[in-house]
Amino acid sequence: MEAETQETLIAALRLQLDWGVDEALEAEPQDRAARASERAEVPAARSPSPAPAPLRAQPQLLPASVAGTRAQALAAGADSLPALREAMAQFEGSPLKETAMNLVFADGVAESGLMFIGEAPGADEDRLGRPFVGVSGQLLDRMLASVGLSRERDFYITNILPFRPPGNRTPTDAEIALFLPFILRHIELARPRLVVLLGGVSAKALLRSREGITRLRGRWHQVTINEGQALPALATLHPAYLLRTPSAKREAWNDLLMLRRKIDSTD
Ligand code: URA
Repeated sequence: MEAETQETLIAALRLQLDWGVDEALEAEPQDRAARASERAEVPAARSPSPAPAPLRAQPQLLPASVAGTRAQALAAGADSLPALREAMAQFEGSPLKETAMNLVFADGVAESGLMFIGEAPGADEDRLGRPFVGVSGQLLDRMLASVGLSRERDFYITNILPFRPPGNRTPTDAEIALFLPFILRHIELARPRLVVLLGGVSAKALLRSREGITRLRGRWHQVTINEGQALPALATLHPAYLLRTPSAKREAWNDLLMLRRKIDSTD
C-alpha cells in the first residue's frame, strides 16, 4: 500500500475514533455516503420514491419528560435482582441502549455484603456484558486480590450506568440522573453492608456531592438509598485513572487498607 494512502486511511480512522465510532455495528461495510448521493441524484420531477428502509429498527424512545418517571416505576417495581435486570432491559428511556451492544448489569457475589460501583461500561464490558473486565477491571481485581478480596467470593460489582456511552465519553448529568433510581434499587436489593465508590462519577452521583474525587476519596461517607436507609461508603480513585496516573496508586492502596480494616472490624 502506498504510504500516502495508508496515512490517509489512518487519519480517517482517527477521525472516526474522535467522533466516538469505535465499534463495528455490521459485518459488512456500508457506503452510506454513496447511498445518500444516489438519493440526491434522483430528478426532482419524478414521482416521489418510497422512503428508504431504516437500516436499524428505530426504537420507540420515551420522551425525556416521562423517561424519569418510567425509570422510577420500573426500579420500584423490581423485587429481586433478576427482576431489576429485566426492568432495566425493558427501559426505553435512554438512547444509550441503542448504541450499546449489551446491558451490563453486575458481576461477582451479590450476597457478599460488599458492593463496588463504577461509572459506566467500556468497550470490553459492552462486548461481554460484564462490568470491569477490561484493563482497568483487571487492575482492580489485582489490587483487591492484594488485600485478600476476590470477585468469585468476596464482592459484587456494578456501575452507575448499565450502557456504554459512545466512545467512552463521560456520562452526562442527565444520564446519571435518569439511571439513578436503578442503581439505588440495585443497592437496596443487593443489601451490602459496605459500598465502595470507584471514581468521581460514582462518588458524586451517590453522595450527591459537587466535590471532586481527590477530596472525597480516602474517607467513609454515607450513601442514602431509598426509604432513608444509609450505608457506609468509601470513595476511592477509579482504576482507569490509576492506569493513567500510576503515582496515585499509593493513595488507592491506602484506601484499600482502610477498606480491609473496616471489613475486619465489621465481621
Ligand atoms: N470503567 C467503569 O467505570 N466500569 C466498567 O465496567 C469498566 C470501566
